[in-house]
Amino acid sequence: MIKALRGMKDIIEDSKKFTTFIEKASTIASNFSFEYIETPILEETKLFKRGVGESSDIVNKEMYQFIDKGGNDVCLRPEGTAGVVRAYIEHKFDRLATPKRWFYYGPMFRYERPQKGRLREFHQFGVESFGEASVLEDLKVILMASKILDSFNIKYKLKINSLGCDKCRPIYTEQLEKFLEENKSELCEDCNRRAVQNPIRTLDCKNEKCQSILKDAPRVTHNLCEECNNEFEELKEELNRIGIEYEVDTSLVRGLDYYNKTAFEFISEEIGAQSAICGGGRYDKLVEMLDGKSVPAVGFAMGIERLLPLVEIEEKREGIYIGIIDEKAKEMALKKFVELVDKEKTYLDNSVRKLNKHLNRADKMKFKKVLIAGEDELKSGKFWEKEL
Ligand code: HAM
Repeated sequence: MIKALRGMKDIIEDSKKFTTFIEKASTIASNFSFEYIETPILEETKLFKRGVGESSDIVNKEMYQFIDKGGNDVCLRPEGTAGVVRAYIEHKFDRLATPKRWFYYGPMFRYERPQKGRLREFHQFGVESFGEASVLEDLKVILMASKILDSFNIKYKLKINSLGCDKCRPIYTEQLEKFLEENKSELCEDCNRRAVQNPIRTLDCKNEKCQSILKDAPRVTHNLCEECNNEFEELKEELNRIGIEYEVDTSLVRGLDYYNKTAFEFISEEIGAQSAICGGGRYDKLVEMLDGKSVPAVGFAMGIERLLPLVEIEEKREGIYIGIIDEKAKEMALKKFVELVDKEKTYLDNSVRKLNKHLNRADKMKFKKVLIAGEDELKSGKFWEKEL
């Protein structure tokens, strides 16, 4: 028997939750004046190497990368931001720093070790906003994520951090490098690799021994320049003002290399170890890094599969079930079906069955109303009706 690949799943039982989530999240994003964008699932590998960063695990270890029949080095997108940035530049919006606010959803691929909440193919709902340097845009994006989660009564903790800018980050990085060098022999292999490639990512190491050493490492939030510090303070004030609770987590550095200034994550305590349900932040240098002009940007992405166990939807009865109890009434039923299916969810059962059988089926299929046609109904021209 051929089975789905390891870490890849069919969405069957949860498909109603899945589509409801996308519908609601899309409506909320549209209300925030974001428009839908669709970008290809397959992109040139170098987009992610340069965009997400070669020091990240996502690019370094987890890419679904191959050479296509035309000899191009391509990969299945591990995340959505880089492709959306590519589209922003390719369609020349960067030239005038045109503000663009986009949302998207679709499959992402990471060759990770599968476990609960961690898949190799998973789906994200994401948003990206280009052209706004104001920290108010960070606030709005965080507010949108919280509204999406609230709309499904999902409980979360919001963690925020500031990663500084190209003025203060290099000074901080130097301090951190010094600390990492001093503790080199005690730190794991991954930390030592990151110490060279992207030192700040060491703070994210899950190894307990490394954590006990890194807790004394210098923190970027204590080394922010005036501008970054003011913006981070403003973000916190505004979050307080609009009543969104948060926690500052100075070891929140995110798993992708492109972030600066605001970084944030929404965590759920109800879904086990893979608790990050949404992650995002500002990435003011990415457009430029991918050969565009300098345009500030901020966004987030949510992992839909991680959210599905938390999504509550009302299972409402809806639609009309049409059943036939006599072969002769088939045409009458078909005519009704053709008429009703334009207006609402309608199901015409193909087989002649006893009334009770039809009622049972309609009940199981969660229909609201049943119309039955038999000989008597054919004569009177009226369906027998029952509300369930
Ligand atoms: P990320 O933190 O790598 O950020 O992923 C965002 C979310 O996708 C995570 O919080 C998690 O819910 C979900 N996720 C990630 N990996 C997996 C997996 N293997 N299985 C299931 N769910 C997963 C990004 O991807 C950035 N592009 C977000 C962003 C947008 N930043 C700015 N704009």
